[in-house]
Amino acid sequence: MKIAIVGATGLVGRKIIQLCEEYFEKSVEYHLYASKDSEGKKLLVNTKEIAIRELTSKNLESCDLALFSAGGERSKEFANEFVDMGAFVIDNSSTFRMEKTIPLVVYGINENVIEKNSKIIANPNCTTMALVMALKPLHDCFNLVGIVPVSYQAVSGSGKSAIESLENELSNLSNPGSAPKKNYYDSQIAKNVIPIAGNMTENGYTDEEIKFSNESKKILDLPDLNVEPSNARVGVDTGHGIFCSATFENSVEVSKAIESINSFEGVEYWNDSYPTPIDAEGNKNILVSRMRVGLTSDKILNFWAVGDNLLKGAALNAVQIAKHISNNDFYTK
Ligand SMILES: NC(=O)c1ccc[n+]([C@@H]2O[C@H](COP(=O)([O-])OP(=O)(O)OC[C@H]3O[C@@H](n4cnc5c(N)ncnc54)[C@H](OP(=O)(O)O)[C@@H]3O)[C@@H](O)[C@H]2O)c1
Repeated sequence: MKIAIVGATGLVGRKIIQLCEEYFEKSVEYHLYASKDSEGKKLLVNTKEIAIRELTSKNLESCDLALFSAGGERSKEFANEFVDMGAFVIDNSSTFRMEKTIPLVVYGINENVIEKNSKIIANPNCTTMALVMALKPLHDCFNLVGIVPVSYQAVSGSGKSAIESLENELSNLSNPGSAPKKNYYDSQIAKNVIPIAGNMTENGYTDEEIKFSNESKKILDLPDLNVEPSNARVGVDTGHGIFCSATFENSVEVSKAIESINSFEGVEYWNDSYPTPIDAEGNKNILVSRMRVGLTSDKILNFWAVGDNLLKGAALNAVQIAKHISNNDFYTK
């Protein structure tokens, strides 16, 4: 089997490499792609050095699977080229997520929508993915009708330049007088909270908030779900947290809600302490706590969920989908 990793040098791409080493046989042949700047640099995969190639049409190799995490423009330009050469593409960008014919998949929730002819599979937005993992078992118990999610998104969600900027801000704070570089975000993020994540759109919501709304409806197959999202960026490295107020058709019970979460693969409930982004970093599960019945209605559950945005929020889900495709022998070649 041959796997292409597009954006191999990025925060997500590097995690994809580690997870491929864990999930796939050592005999897999890897092809790594990034920008011109990385051409010729080498990365280790299964202890073997592999040279990175610039992502250009002439360098593309026919592969069984191509995992993209190099930004939307690259997905737009090259995903179909890989498909034409016989690959299943799993794409981390938002490019294809809302296309009707393209499955938007959270492994563990709706991987059954992938078919032999689903040649491009979209990986959802990282915050949405963490939240729907907590919502799905609750929905199965009480029938979800609406959510008011408020996210606290980590800096690594914006990629390696944002992490470099955070580190630079932190070092400037501890060494005042050192030459300041331009910050990645409009406001200082080090030791701070910025009450906006993503780009502002015409209706006053950010594109991240719109993704929250559109993608949760598509993944959970609940087109009428009411979603009132607010997203903030917080000065932590990794781990997106979400406070969510969820309204159901039926009366809720906290003990049943916790039981349903603990019996759902990939989510765990913390009873005795409160999981933070630091707890979530490196953890494949979405961590949930503070489950409470609403103060104004017995059809509301309020809770906290936090997950590693680079794992279940991106690389882990992509590799789980890749493994699912290979296990089901969807290849036509
Ligand atoms: N970070 C997250 O939590 C997260 C979660 C879900 C989805 N995503 C999505 O995943 C993608 C990557 O995110 P990231 O956080 O890993 O970003 P990143 O750390 O900035 O990495 C970007 C990657 O894209 C490559 N790239 C940039 N321009 C390119 C070009 N012109 N041609 C070929 N490769 C190019 C970079 O290669 P060089 O090193 O050579 O520049 C690098 O490998 C984005 O679409 C993002 O929206 C990210």
